[in-house]
Amino acid sequence: MEISKTSILNLTFLTLLFTGLLYIFLISPSSTSFPPLKAASPACPGQRKSAGSATDEAVLADDLDIALRRASMANRTVIIAIVNQAYADPANSEDSDRTMLDLFLESFWLGEGTRKLLDHVLVVAMDRTAYMMCKFRRLNCYRLVTEGVNFAGEKLYMSEDFIKMMWSRTIFLADVLRRGYSFIFTDTDVMWLRNPLARLSSNETEDLQISTDVFNGDPWSEKNLINTGFYFVRSNNRTISLFETWYSTKDNATGKKEQDVLLDLMRLGMFRVLGLKVRFLDTQYFSGFCTDSKDFGAVTTVHANCCRSIVAKVFDLTAVLRDWKRYKFSNRRPGYARNRTVRHMWTKHVGCWKSWRVTMNNTVH
Ligand SMILES: *[C@@H]1O[C@H](CO)[C@@H](O)[C@H](O)[C@H]1NC(C)=O
Ligand SMILES: *[C@@H]1O[C@H](CO)[C@@H](O)[C@H](O)[C@H]1NC(C)=O
Ligand SMILES: *[C@@H]1O[C@H](CO)[C@@H](O)[C@H](O)[C@H]1NC(C)=O
Ligand SMILES: *[C@@H]1O[C@H](CO)[C@@H](O)[C@H](O)[C@H]1NC(C)=O
Ligand SMILES: *[C@@H]1O[C@H](CO)[C@@H](O)[C@H](O)[C@H]1NC(C)=O
Ligand SMILES: *[C@@H]1O[C@H](CO)[C@@H](O)[C@H](O)[C@H]1NC(C)=O
Repeated sequence: MEISKTSILNLTFLTLLFTGLLYIFLISPSSTSFPPLKAASPACPGQRKSAGSATDEAVLADDLDIALRRASMANRTVIIAIVNQAYADPANSEDSDRTMLDLFLESFWLGEGTRKLLDHVLVVAMDRTAYMMCKFRRLNCYRLVTEGVNFAGEKLYMSEDFIKMMWSRTIFLADVLRRGYSFIFTDTDVMWLRNPLARLSSNETEDLQISTDVFNGDPWSEKNLINTGFYFVRSNNRTISLFETWYSTKDNATGKKEQDVLLDLMRLGMFRVLGLKVRFLDTQYFSGFCTDSKDFGAVTTVHANCCRSIVAKVFDLTAVLRDWKRYKFSNRRPGYARNRTVRHMWTKHVGCWKSWRVTMNNTVH
């Protein structure tokens, strides 16, 4: 009798415990496990510490975890491209048959050794239309929701929404690093003509490898002009700190976009303070409209930097792909060994040059 009484008590206790646990797992997470972007909201920028959210994330795989896992290479590396409607919706490109996203994808098709990389591209959509276009193309898609801003239209360079969009991607990327994923960040106005992983350093001590508008010849010189349109960052405590520091300056950086803020942080010696090893990428391989690569045999990416409007970028990048096809074709003619003496030239980036004439003549992208 005594015994069965105790077991009934035990049973009751266990049931209560179980119900309690059920409550914790099923109900309370909805209010507590929102760290990725709730925490990113401007209300509490200073308090986003990775440790607090870590346990919640371990319990519940959220959409971002799932998306990252699906796109990731075996070594937890992904390629991240962020798009909004202006870059993805054909309705926005009256003057061309193709959107920026189309061109981006086409470059993976035309590039050398780039097709298989598309499986590892995670397209981060800033609005509903971009997300639907992404799904329609059967890519790996993730919808990034940020409160209070409509990111759909073309954000004119340096407008208030443009800057907000930049910052919300910075905090998103910090979140990806915190989850232990290294990534290549690429703007969609970067054409992938060769596999960058073959060209990037595989030395694990290098935390960040970042493209430049102008390369001064020294991969370790902080005098290089960085461009945040293409970089490879490894996930570790130093890089997480960098992205958090970068983001924390947002409210003290009125009128500046995140790239300029990073440049300022670099000039203030932040890389050294955080113990970061940063390599600046040679424009011979990671090129752009600011500095063309002179070598078609080596060029890896072409970024439509130093350019102000989407229409101009689409126009000039279309020419880049045409040049690239011509180069590939000339090398492929039967009985025609790679003739290194033939000089291939890039078509002049006329659209982008003109794009600066409209207004704003004092800044360079
Ligand atoms: C991850 O794996 C890919 C494919 O095997 C390789 O090319 C790349 O260099 C690796 N990345 C890192 C950061 O080790
Ligand atoms: C990586 O870089 C460090 C520092 O420059 C160097 O000591 C090390 O030998 C390099 N490792 C490899 C595998 O090249
Ligand atoms: C960051 O540092 C903590 C404590 O030093 C360590 O436990 C953790 O593994 C580190 N995280 C990464 C991503 O290196
Ligand atoms: C904001 O910038 C000003 C001027 O550059 C500087 O004096 C101040 O310490 C900064 N504030 C923060 C919170 O970083
Ligand atoms: C390479 O191209 C140059 C210039 O068109 C031509 O003079 C030369 O004969 C070519 N060489 C070969 C091996 O085809
Ligand atoms: C820039 O444009 C303004 C008018 O928008 C003009 O007054 C100014 O002279 C221009 N500056 C240069 C350097 O062209």
